[in-house]
Amino acid sequence: MKLIVANWKSNPSTHAEAIRLAKEIDWKGVVIVPPFIYLEAISDVLKNASLGAQDVSPNDVGPHTGEIAPRQLIDLKVEYVIVGHSERRKAGETDEEIQKELVATLNAGLKAVLCVGESAEVRKNGFEAAKKFVKEQLESVFSGLSQSLKVMSYELYVAYEPIWAIGTGTTDTPESAAEMASFIKQLMVNSYKLSVNVLYGGSLNASNAKSFLSRSEIGGALVGGASLRSDEFKKIVETTQ
Ligand code: 13P
Repeated sequence: MKLIVANWKSNPSTHAEAIRLAKEIDWKGVVIVPPFIYLEAISDVLKNASLGAQDVSPNDVGPHTGEIAPRQLIDLKVEYVIVGHSERRKAGETDEEIQKELVATLNAGLKAVLCVGESAEVRKNGFEAAKKFVKEQLESVFSGLSQSLKVMSYELYVAYEPIWAIGTGTTDTPESAAEMASFIKQLMVNSYKLSVNVLYGGSLNASNAKSFLSRSEIGGALVGGASLRSDEFKKIVETTQ
């Protein structure tokens, strides 16, 4: 079954709207990832969907003002954490911090969705340049990671989200996204002996979802804007059934 992750980012603006929307899209195979402040209330109403967080502290509970530790998420029945979203990277998160967050996530027994993807500037130089960029992003996170992992089994997703496709209405082509997904999977197995599922993200909507999600290489989707409209999101989820 393909995984459809609803990344609400900094939406919606009220608690009531968040609860209403969560109830509307509470389907199996969906991960709802609201802002931190709505996690607890949504956790209480979900019957079918899973819950995710948009970020996590690399630190355990303690004197870390403004941070949310993995075990605090687990207490709210959060199962997934998005790590290294390009909007977090833009806000200043470094590869080193992202590696620490990934380790903290997996060591706590949470499932991780690690985001990678190139800028328009990189893609201008062609698809091979994009692959090289993504490879370097993965290397910077996974080199040396196995020594820090305390757990034997973990569930890891890599979300390929080209930055130029996020919120722009322009997607990558399904062919390129599928090729990138294969490339990532091969790299992860060959270099790190890790088997991962690859999600596509970037302007996915009801009209284009099928062309991506029907590809065997693509294990699901990371959906931003379209996950805030239940009718639109329903059509995306339906393409996987
Ligand atoms: P959009 O679906 O709004 O392009 O956002 C994609 C994204 O960043 C999901 O994490």
